[in-house]
Amino acid sequence: MPARRSAPHIFRPTETNLARLAGALRRGAIVGVPSETVYGLAADALSQEACSGIFAAKGRPTTDPLIVHLASIKELPRVAHANAVALKLAKSLWPGPLTLVLPKTDAVPDIVTAGKRTVAVRIPAHPLFRKLIRLVGRPLAAPSANPFGYVSPTTAQHVRDGLSGTRLRHVLDGGECQVGVESTIIDLVDPDQPRLLRPGGLAVGEIEKAAGCKILLPRPARLEPGVAAPAPGMLARHYSPRTPITLHERIGEDGLAKLSAGEAVLLLRRPARHREDSRIFWLSEDGNLDEIARNLFSLLRRLDGGSWKRIHAETPAGAEGLAPAIRDRLTRAAAKR
Ligand code: TXA
Ligand code: MG
Repeated sequence: MPARRSAPHIFRPTETNLARLAGALRRGAIVGVPSETVYGLAADALSQEACSGIFAAKGRPTTDPLIVHLASIKELPRVAHANAVALKLAKSLWPGPLTLVLPKTDAVPDIVTAGKRTVAVRIPAHPLFRKLIRLVGRPLAAPSANPFGYVSPTTAQHVRDGLSGTRLRHVLDGGECQVGVESTIIDLVDPDQPRLLRPGGLAVGEIEKAAGCKILLPRPARLEPGVAAPAPGMLARHYSPRTPITLHERIGEDGLAKLSAGEAVLLLRRPARHREDSRIFWLSEDGNLDEIARNLFSLLRRLDGGSWKRIHAETPAGAEGLAPAIRDRLTRAAAKR
């Protein structure tokens, strides 16, 4: 049967709609779902065929593995072989924006893990996502619900905007994402050497506190397409708007004064001195990192919808809180084609 190609419908989270979307997922459909980090594009994680629909809709290469989402820790043995450190982290930090990479079970099809012997797993904090998983009765595989390489979605409307014209028919509306950047990914295949694969919505310091040990950070080498990356899919250019971005450590008053016509500025906080200038945007009132992360993708999308020639963006320095995740996303968004 040829796929229908129109905009997906956005469903309010009523009991009837949840049951309907769970039914669609059980029959092998893909569904846009809210999470606390970004919206996901979900399918039955135990079905090779259902998951192939995710790759088709996103235009995602099958070398890039998916994250498997569970509703409770009890379901972990179904998909992964956990170790003591993994269980400790899972018990103290799930549900939440933390993904653990562990040896996989035979129940997980190859398409989910890109043929690897490991699987990435997390329990999302958004109650509607967990409720949907429970109604389906199966784990749900889900990458971010955007066309491959573009800025991740943090509202149901973003999902609709990005994936109209694909086979996606259903998006569950769970409001705006509260964290705003994807989960932090930790490789725990060797429990003696937990390694950070992707900085994200949970600060590494908090994970170290819960694990009671150090997390190895990746070498600061730049990741280039075609070069083996610590986590597959971590390309230098990703999360990218079409508008070119130039990064700055700080844009002060003289930087704002020197702005060329048609260029926008994206600041980390509201400028100290008020000015009437529609080219100036800010991610938070006073530099709060959680607020910056929450607003990052939606503001990048809004700016990309304008006709700016270039965006000058400030990046946060340091290793505190969500600064590394925000810096990572901005650096990839700004990487050259
Ligand atoms: O917050 C999130 O993590 C969101 C929500 C929907 O849960 N999901 C998300 O998925 O960001 P995605 O597909 O955009 O990123 C998943 C990344 C892959 O690109 C890859 O880097 C890593 O997870 N990954 C998945 N399985 C892996 C594995 N077996 N080994 C190493 N890395 C893996
Ligand atoms: Mg993604």
